[in-house]
Amino acid sequence: MHDRSTEAPAGLEIEISGLGKRYDAARGAYTDAVSDFSLTIPAGSFTSLIGPSGCGKSTVLRMIADIETPTTGEISVGGQTPSQIRTSSRLGIAFQEPALLPWRSVLGNIRFPSELGGRTSIDRGDLTALIDLVGLTGFERSRPGQLSGGMRQRVAIARALSVHPDVLLLDEPFGALDEFTRQKMNLELQRIWAARRVTTLLVTHSITEAVFLADQVVVMSARPGRVAEIIDVDLPRPRTTEMMTTDDFHHIVDRVSRTLFTSQRAALEGVA
Ligand SMILES: Nc1ncnc2c1ncn2[C@@H]1O[C@H](COP(=O)(O)OP(=O)(O)OP(=O)(O)O)[C@@H](O)[C@H]1O
Ligand SMILES: [Mg+2]
Repeated sequence: MHDRSTEAPAGLEIEISGLGKRYDAARGAYTDAVSDFSLTIPAGSFTSLIGPSGCGKSTVLRMIADIETPTTGEISVGGQTPSQIRTSSRLGIAFQEPALLPWRSVLGNIRFPSELGGRTSIDRGDLTALIDLVGLTGFERSRPGQLSGGMRQRVAIARALSVHPDVLLLDEPFGALDEFTRQKMNLELQRIWAARRVTTLLVTHSITEAVFLADQVVVMSARPGRVAEIIDVDLPRPRTTEMMTTDDFHHIVDRVSRTLFTSQRAALEGVA
C-alpha cells in the first residue's frame, strides 16, 4: 500500500438517478422500499444518509453494492455499473454487525477479502500500515472474541479498506456501541477517511454522528424512500469534539432534525 495522503482523492463519484426498488412478496403483494431516489456523491467526499426506520437506507446501500438489483433508475460509480465496481474489488463494505470470522486473528480477518481474489493483493507492509491506520497495532494475533465492540468495528473497517476501495459503504457501523466509544470511533473514522479520501456513504440513526462526519447529510423521506433534503455541512475540517458545542453545529443539527422528524411523522402515520 502506498501513501495516498498527499494525492488527489482516491474515490469515485457516485451518481444515482431515479432509483427505485420494489420487493415482491407472495401472492402479488409487494413493498416499494425506495422510489425516485436521486443523489450525487462527489468523489472523495463523505455523505451521511439518515431517515426513519424502514425508509430504504440499507436498500440504497445494497443496490450501490450490487447486492440488490434496482427496479428502476441508474447508479453510476465513476462511470461504471455497481457490478463492474464490485467485481474489480473497488468497494469496501462494513455493516452494523461486523461479521468477523471468529477463528481467524485480526490479521487473518483483514486479509480475508484479498485471499478471495479480485484485483487486489495485500502484502505484509500493506497490512501493517492498515492496522496502524485503524489503531490496532499490538492486536494482530488477537481473535475477535478477545476484542471490544469498538475494536471489532475497526477490524471490519480495516477489512473493508484492505481491497483499496474507491467507495466505502458503512451501514450503521457504530449502532451497537455506547455514546463514548461511538464518538471515539467517529474521530477514528474521520482520520481514516481523511488519510485515504475514499468516497464514503454512511447510514446512521444518529443526527450528531451524521453531521459530525459529513460533507453533506441526506435526509430520506418515509418509505418509499426518496431524498427529502440535502444539507451541506460547511464546518471546517478536521472536526473536533469541541465543535459539537458551537452554534454552527447546533444550527445544522436543528435543520437535519426538523426534516427527519417530518419524515418520521409521515412514517408513523403511514403505519397507523
Ligand atoms: N429482502 C427484502 N425482501 C422484502 N422486503 C424487504 C427486504 N429488505 C428490505 N425490505 C423492506 O424494504 C423496506 C426498506 O428496508 P430497509 O432495510 O432498506 O430500511 P432501512 O431504512 O435500512 O431501515 P432501518 O433503519 O430499520 O435499518 C422495509 O419495509 C423492509 O421491510
Ligand atoms: Mg437498515
